[in-house]
Amino acid sequence: MTIAAPSVHARELSDAPDWWRQAVVYQVYPRSFADTNGDGLGDIPGITSRVPYLAALGVDAVWLSPFYPSDLADGGYDVADYRDVDPRLGTLADMDELISQLHAHGIRVVVDIVPNHTSDKHAWFQEALAAGRGSAARERYIFREGTGPDGSEPPTDWVSVFGGSAWERVADGQWYFHNFDVSQPDLNWANPEVRADFLTTLRFWGDRGVDGFRVDVAHMLTKDLSEPLPSRAELDAMPIDGNHPLIDRDDVQEVYAEWRAVFDEYDPPRTAVAEAWVHPSRVPLYASAASLGQSFNFDLLEADFDAGQFRRIVADNLALAAESGSSTTWVLSNHDVVRHATRYGLPDAQRGADGRPTLKHGNEWLLSGGTEPALDAERGERRARAAALFLLALPGSAYLYQGEELGLHEVADIPDAERQDPTFFRSPGVDLGRDGCRVPLPWTASGGSFGFGDAGAHLPQPDWFETYAADVQDGHPASTLSLYRRALALRHELQTAEELTWIDGSSAEVVAYERPNGWSVVTNFGAEAVPLPAGEVLLSSRALDDGRLPGETTVWMRRA
Ligand code: GLC
Ligand code: CA
Repeated sequence: MTIAAPSVHARELSDAPDWWRQAVVYQVYPRSFADTNGDGLGDIPGITSRVPYLAALGVDAVWLSPFYPSDLADGGYDVADYRDVDPRLGTLADMDELISQLHAHGIRVVVDIVPNHTSDKHAWFQEALAAGRGSAARERYIFREGTGPDGSEPPTDWVSVFGGSAWERVADGQWYFHNFDVSQPDLNWANPEVRADFLTTLRFWGDRGVDGFRVDVAHMLTKDLSEPLPSRAELDAMPIDGNHPLIDRDDVQEVYAEWRAVFDEYDPPRTAVAEAWVHPSRVPLYASAASLGQSFNFDLLEADFDAGQFRRIVADNLALAAESGSSTTWVLSNHDVVRHATRYGLPDAQRGADGRPTLKHGNEWLLSGGTEPALDAERGERRARAAALFLLALPGSAYLYQGEELGLHEVADIPDAERQDPTFFRSPGVDLGRDGCRVPLPWTASGGSFGFGDAGAHLPQPDWFETYAADVQDGHPASTLSLYRRALALRHELQTAEELTWIDGSSAEVVAYERPNGWSVVTNFGAEAVPLPAGEVLLSSRALDDGRLPGETTVWMRRA
């Protein structure tokens, strides 16, 4: 494929230990990025082949979702070996080559680490099954006897995050605990061998030149499973205050203190970002320099395209970052949620019982296979572009999900028989799962799988991908790809101290802020055009309307 990389000079890899503080990190979902050997699965050499594209896009780092050997029961988040590459995706030598190519283009590398659970195919779990009850091998996981006269009932009525019981029975009658899929047994983080082994894994990748780690469900590793175990209702009623038996326990920080010591063995220190779905007041614990150093804030990803919500979220998260001394992380999409171009194009935010937009569960549009209620695709894209420019000028780091730079929508109409996500199988008919944002990328308008590979894609690509293909957008000044490229290049030039000042304006629908060097951002969340403040316009998410700022548009400006 020839997607001309606009003449970019590869950036130098910055040696600054704080390179991550305001980095743009691009998330690659390896199996859906680019396939070089025609087996329908994206692979490591595929990512390497697209390094020039990533460099031209102007990202500072790439985060690779899991590429480890896996049964793919949960898209690779069921890891069978933490220190190897899935043979279907390549080899360790391929990873070394990818790391070196990314570094040569000035791009840092972050890998996903999945410490809460292994795959049931992991050697440890196989050993635990064979060794039987009471063995040291079972101590690495969470095995319990069942209840009821013959132990045939699970130890508790707890439910897994993916639906169904959180316990699974093995042949000899014991049960093991799994927060997620049955194929993802939870590790016992009170076990010293488990703790030591993860330090070995961190060093394994750190020594290979990996710059940082994204820590999967970082808030769930440690547990208090002392008997008697509470019921589900009791568990749900307990405060999540650091002492909850399963979630966000204070003692998980002891694990991260050990990890920090390993990160600091390197120069520059290896970094980490926690995927911790915790109460905002608890975020600084994970984000502090003594712990993982940074923690995801998913607030924009959960918000509507709404002036009040955006402004409040920015203010809250900058305050939280100040508390921990870290920088915050902005994110609109990832591999777990409906793509934001689609979320923003649905008629009304679809709210769950808790008042928050439902991204998956019960989302009527997804459940209808994308037919009802109708999606206003253009409006969704317009708002997505405005939200992206709003986010890309904020202090802190920005996490982009592959395909958002193409303005991609969610693929809703995947036939049931082709779905892969365990959340679909564990809640049939209730939750369509996350496959719709994991469909292989369209690189070219023509070709069997839109340039993804030679032999089709592991999830079906819709016909409308043609219009979104990277080669169609390449060189088109009005395309979303061009907008992202220009925004990232400008951001690099304009980047400044991690501060902003709000510019109070005319309307409740308009949010404006200025960075210390006079770089300012104005977003019109409303539908009607509004006057533009004085200053030089640098970039706009949509053509200006006779010198006015149209609805659902963001503009970057420089003080006159
Ligand atoms: C995280 C991942 C998600 C995965 C889950 C279990 O939330 O982002 O994709 O299913 O952890 O590992
Ligand atoms: Ca392949």
